[in-house]
Amino acid sequence: MIACVVIGAQWGDEGKGKVVDLYTRRADVVARFQGGNNAGHTLVVDGPDGPVKTVLHLIPSGILHDDTLNLIGSGVSIDVEVLFGELEGLAKGGLEVTPDRLRICPDAHVIMPYHCALDHAREARLEGGRIGTTGRGIGPCYEDRAARRGVRIRDLLDADRLRAVLERVLPERNALLTWHGAEAFELDPLVERFATLGQRIAPFIADVRGELAAAIERGDDVLFEGAQGSLLDVGHGTYPFVTSSYTTSGGVAIGAGVPPSTLTHVVAIAKAYCTRVGAGPFPTELDDAVGQQLRDAGHEYGSTTGRPRRCGWFDAVALRAAHRLNGFTSLAITKLDVLSGLDEVRICVAWEVDGKTIEVSDMDVVEVAKAVPVYVTLPGWTEDITGVRHLDQLPAAARRVLTTIEEQTGVPVGLVSVGPERDQTIEILSPFA
Ligand code: GDP
Ligand code: IMO
Ligand code: MG
Repeated sequence: MIACVVIGAQWGDEGKGKVVDLYTRRADVVARFQGGNNAGHTLVVDGPDGPVKTVLHLIPSGILHDDTLNLIGSGVSIDVEVLFGELEGLAKGGLEVTPDRLRICPDAHVIMPYHCALDHAREARLEGGRIGTTGRGIGPCYEDRAARRGVRIRDLLDADRLRAVLERVLPERNALLTWHGAEAFELDPLVERFATLGQRIAPFIADVRGELAAAIERGDDVLFEGAQGSLLDVGHGTYPFVTSSYTTSGGVAIGAGVPPSTLTHVVAIAKAYCTRVGAGPFPTELDDAVGQQLRDAGHEYGSTTGRPRRCGWFDAVALRAAHRLNGFTSLAITKLDVLSGLDEVRICVAWEVDGKTIEVSDMDVVEVAKAVPVYVTLPGWTEDITGVRHLDQLPAAARRVLTTIEEQTGVPVGLVSVGPERDQTIEILSPFA
């Protein structure tokens, strides 16, 4: 039995969707355990007229493989209308997702319209101090969950129960919205709209914890799909410039409802460089022509919001911090092809902070903001490597980037991605081998 989690090792958008889709060939079950539709996971799969791109926000990235069961655990925050939009998008492309392929835990929380309104109102008010959220209501939804005033998927199934919850929580949320100068929400239309959505989502609701336990008992191979990145973890990232969920491997147990001892593999997804979207410190950020070249070559624009991503060099200090939190068993290095054509490639191996050398950081924003990167500089290469399928076909300079990353992080490289498509991959050590 394999129980593998795919974790973003940086600040998100590392290519988790591609790797999950690829590994799903050999998994029976794929489960999301945290985050919500702040995630944008891109899958590129061959179709009759060439490669077809699918961006998923809530539906697990195993959905394009027919025989896979896709689960959404209680740790996920769900905007139900976004979920139906995604299902409709897949149906238009010829993939009808039936409840035998997608099952949702009734204890997952619902992102309500007042969560999105609060997210926007707060960001607007913060001006210079913005987090740069995706505006999807994620923070306000998780905050209501922790404060025990959330709406769960199970509440949508019964209009009276939903009304009772909203009668309790809405006046307070409305008071806050009004304080922000935003519109308040009326109770009756909300009850009606969400009770109707409850009827639509009902067939997809199932005992996800029980399904996972049964799958593990049977010896099925299970893939857990992380969203966001380790450095955006609410407890361990660059707080407050983080998301509101536990994005690290410990989040699997909490968000999917499986014992912590379940995981057999923890795969880190990291770009061969770094990106960050939204605000917060980023030591290796390149505010120059090289940064722009990475953005152009890597099409570094958000899959959810379309925002340009900030780009910089690979940061081994940040990756060691992520490794300490997650216990990575292997690294999947993505977008190595994007480095083709650079004169030189830099890798940050340490930070200088107030005259001290930092090799692994606890990611406190004050320290991260002061960090001056110490780089090793490696030669670049000019060859197009998108057609390479074996390590030994890579230019020596590209191999050297991979070995430097391995040496600096202490984690073996198990997969190298050289393009967005499924087959543009060099597999070295697969958890499913
Ligand atoms: P995720 O959020 O971690 O799933 O990543 P995103 O889908 O938001 O962003 C990754 C982007 O890079 C997507 O557009 C992918 O299609 C693309 N991508 C993934 N792997 C590679 C790769 O190896 N090379 C290139 N050029 N693009 C890639
Ligand atoms: P995937 O799964 C990159 C960032 C936002 C912002 C911060 C808080 O595609 O890698 P939130 O809306 O979560 O309250 O925003 O987190 N963020 C992401 N950045 N990839 C993501 O998801 C992200 N989800 C949230 O940009 O800085
Ligand atoms: Mg993304």
